[in-house]
Amino acid sequence: MDKLKVMTIFGTRPEAIKMAPLVKELERREEIESLCCVTAQHRQMLDSVLDIFGIVPQFDLDIMEPSQTLSTITTKCLLGLEKVFQEVRPDLVLVHGDTSTTFAGALAAYYQKIAVGHVEAGLRTWDRYSPFPEEMNRSMVGRLAQLHFCPTAANRRNLEAEGVRDGLFVTGNTVIDALQTTVLKEFRFAEDVLNRLDYGGKKVILVTCHRRENYGKPMEDIMAALAHIAQTHPEAELVYPVHLSPAVQECAHRYLDGIENVHLIVPLDVEEMHNLMARSYLVMTDSGGLQEEAPALGKPVLVLRKETERPEAVQAGTVKLAGVDYDAIVSMADELLDDSAAYAKMAHAVNPYGDGRACRRIVDAVLYQFGRTDRPPETFQG
Ligand code: UD1
Ligand code: UDP
Repeated sequence: MDKLKVMTIFGTRPEAIKMAPLVKELERREEIESLCCVTAQHRQMLDSVLDIFGIVPQFDLDIMEPSQTLSTITTKCLLGLEKVFQEVRPDLVLVHGDTSTTFAGALAAYYQKIAVGHVEAGLRTWDRYSPFPEEMNRSMVGRLAQLHFCPTAANRRNLEAEGVRDGLFVTGNTVIDALQTTVLKEFRFAEDVLNRLDYGGKKVILVTCHRRENYGKPMEDIMAALAHIAQTHPEAELVYPVHLSPAVQECAHRYLDGIENVHLIVPLDVEEMHNLMARSYLVMTDSGGLQEEAPALGKPVLVLRKETERPEAVQAGTVKLAGVDYDAIVSMADELLDDSAAYAKMAHAVNPYGDGRACRRIVDAVLYQFGRTDRPPETFQG
């Protein structure tokens, strides 16, 4: 029997981090021919992940432009992928999550009548403009895909509520698979300021912020709140690897430059990021991925957004929604910095998003759906 041709398509940093262990798992299976196509919606931040995991894509669309718009990303991906599919015809395309690459990848495959599998399926806020455009991207991919790999049972229920009945699997999130290979007891950072930080004596606050719906006033309020927190807490060291988006760079530097205990640094590679997180006191972020990783490392998270599609860790008590309002962000950070009982209540490791075996389950499910094995995949129990 011919090998099953499976093509992974991804383009941004978070997709790459979460697809990398899946690419490795696909490569390990002898029933599968694994092909990888990157759109390079992100260039530097993608290449850093490819380097670390040792992935050399067969196709690279190299679409990134400075200050790119949603329309240019989507159209460049669609046109580029059409050519790729003319050259090779995969039996299955796997896309991840909710970016413009994800949506365009699923749509381009659908146009060629190629089966689509959606990794990290079923996350919803039910607010079409928040996160923007991710909520609509993942909803549309939910319609285009035939296979839905849901990290949690709640994600599966979201899809069932939308009428999806077939091809649903609860697998855990592949980011937890990635996390198991990166965090080390002894770690030397490339950025020397991170080697010099006093992780035991100081309270290191790890910050990231990049979401499009936060551009403008919400992001300005977030940055102003971060400046105030740093200035009123000399016992804290705020470390912020700033996303390369020009809108984010400008805002972060305008509010945070020149504050002694604020360190604005370049984006970290994923090993550095996970090791910094493991050594931090607190995480403040609007990132999706950090909301999943920090609870697994026992780090409290304040989410700099009004909603989250990841309620599991909020329910488990390690993540709180701080919102985008200056006063609310300051008072929630003050509480975690000043009140050790409040901090201890949040600082315990939970793993609602995975157990490190998501990729194995996803590939088992693919082989099962394509009739290459009679053994159904195991379900992640949470
Ligand atoms: C994208 C995703 C978002 C995801 C985020 C992860 C969409 C619409 N948005 O948002 O869902 O959470 O990635 O980080 O798909 N840039 C560089 N080098 C890089 C990466 C980015 O210079 O390696 C700059 C470029 O100027 C680019 C800009 O950042 O135009 C914005 O990148 P883009 O992918 O459009 O949006 P993100 O905010 O990164
Ligand atoms: N990350 C990283 N370096 C950084 C910031 C984030 O490696 O400087 C990792 C982080 O650990 C997580 C992923 O990138 O795995 C999250 O990406 P991002 O916040 O850009 O996107 P989101 O998850 O919000 O879509």
